[in-house]
Amino acid sequence: MSMEAGTQMLNGLLVAEAIKQGVAARVSELGQRGVRPGLAVVLVGENPASKVYVGSKVRTCQALGLFSEKIELAAETTTEELLAVIDHLNGRDEIDGILVQLPLPPQIEARLILEAIDPAKDVDGFHAVNVGRMVRGEDSLVPCTPAGVIEMLDHYQIPLAGANAVVIGRSDIVGKPMAMLLLHRHATVTICHSRTRDLAEVSRRADIVIAAIGRTAMVNGDYIKDGAVVVDVGINKVSTADDVRRIFTDEEIPTRLEELGRRGYTLVGDVGPRSVIGRAGWFSPVPGGVGPLTIAMLMKNTLRAAEARRGRTM
Ligand code: GUN
Repeated sequence: MSMEAGTQMLNGLLVAEAIKQGVAARVSELGQRGVRPGLAVVLVGENPASKVYVGSKVRTCQALGLFSEKIELAAETTTEELLAVIDHLNGRDEIDGILVQLPLPPQIEARLILEAIDPAKDVDGFHAVNVGRMVRGEDSLVPCTPAGVIEMLDHYQIPLAGANAVVIGRSDIVGKPMAMLLLHRHATVTICHSRTRDLAEVSRRADIVIAAIGRTAMVNGDYIKDGAVVVDVGINKVSTADDVRRIFTDEEIPTRLEELGRRGYTLVGDVGPRSVIGRAGWFSPVPGGVGPLTIAMLMKNTLRAAEARRGRTM
């Protein structure tokens, strides 16, 4: 039995602040040499969540001293029109990073768009060239969310080499790159998904569980070994009081109900805190866990892209 009772929190806000401070310091140095890293964020259509994320990315650029440009396009934009915008951004020297916010409207061929971005400016790390380099363990731009999870695990000195890591979810944005980054750090990695048999049983063998499936509070105490590290990548809305009482700890229920009354919803990840807190050794909460790290890593990727692209002038 563990001598240490309770679950320690993985504070993503704290780790994100440290990363952003590092970026701001380097951006300030570059500024003295007349170099200002720049990010273009492209938003197509009116997805409300995407608007919030894009606004937050642009504001963070401003706060850290990066140049940023927001390009908003109509929901009816065609693949060809968006390709022309990408082409223009590829050619502009002051733009080091290009991010096309996903999801794109259905008439746009997302794969063509992602492949059109100059790999050197692909701060999302979604281009096949960057994916391929990442899989090989070569220098590449790495997707922000999984890269942020690794930074958080490192910050808390969670041992990765030899650990059993279970990644629940196999998306191109999180699950697949997450598994590869853990593998590069010598974890023994299992990727699970909606068709995995005995998912809870597989997950219970893990020292580290990364939940990235997009199912509200699906991962409960049955999925978690005593003392395991649990990282919650999900963002879902909970909109009934019954669900709030089922999902959250007694301690959290009052503030969550208050938020539900005020906003009509409260956010939860893919992990249900009520049955996981107390059993896990470490847990990243929603909000305040992985979320802030994604943007911090986007800033870091933009800085890296600027340094790599402008290497000769610095
Ligand atoms: N939509 C949800 N996550 C992401 C991300 O990491 N990058 C982009 N471009 N769009 C997203």
